[in-house]
Amino acid sequence: MKTLVVYYSFDGNTRYIAENIAAETGADILELKPVSDIKNRRFTKYIWGGKQVVMGKKPELQKISINPQEYDTIFIGTPVWAYSHSPAVSTFLSEFEIKGKKLALFCCDGGSKGKTFSNMREYLKDNSILAELEFIEPIKGDEGKAAQAREWARAVIGE
Ligand SMILES: Cc1cc2nc3c(=O)[nH]c(=O)nc-3n(C[C@H](O)[C@H](O)[C@H](O)COP(=O)(O)O)c2cc1C
Repeated sequence: MKTLVVYYSFDGNTRYIAENIAAETGADILELKPVSDIKNRRFTKYIWGGKQVVMGKKPELQKISINPQEYDTIFIGTPVWAYSHSPAVSTFLSEFEIKGKKLALFCCDGGSKGKTFSNMREYLKDNSILAELEFIEPIKGDEGKAAQAREWARAVIGE
């Protein structure tokens, strides 16, 4: 059974969780990288990024060398932007018609995931969604979030 972890991360939290999941399960890993991403890491990133979500932007991604269709189980991870998934994940979900897969969704946020998972589910109707998990700022102090991610990933794979 082949497993893929696909994610976007701007500040590294989602990457941290994605890398733990991949290490635990032996999955391949795919980082989504927009051709043009936020330039400013300070406060304006919230305005720029929030606007992208509200306007339903689907930024062009750098070339993807992995074919998601070849995998049985896919973990999909995103930071929460404006109470939803990130624009890079929107592009991925629209460009690759994911069907007939076992999926597990995870997100990283500051405490308000809003409609992130339900919005992602809209793109993923023809799949079996095994699990969803929210991580609140996992890099800050960690507090066992890596271990939690690994345990969760093992449980998903075991299903
Ligand atoms: C543009 C933007 C919008 C955000 N909107 C939310 C939000 O709606 N709710 C929330 O809890 N956190 C929000 N955050 C915080 C991030 O979701 C949080 O810091 C997350 O851990 C970042 O993941 P990353 O490090 O993988 O990029 C937002 C951050 C950015 C940059």
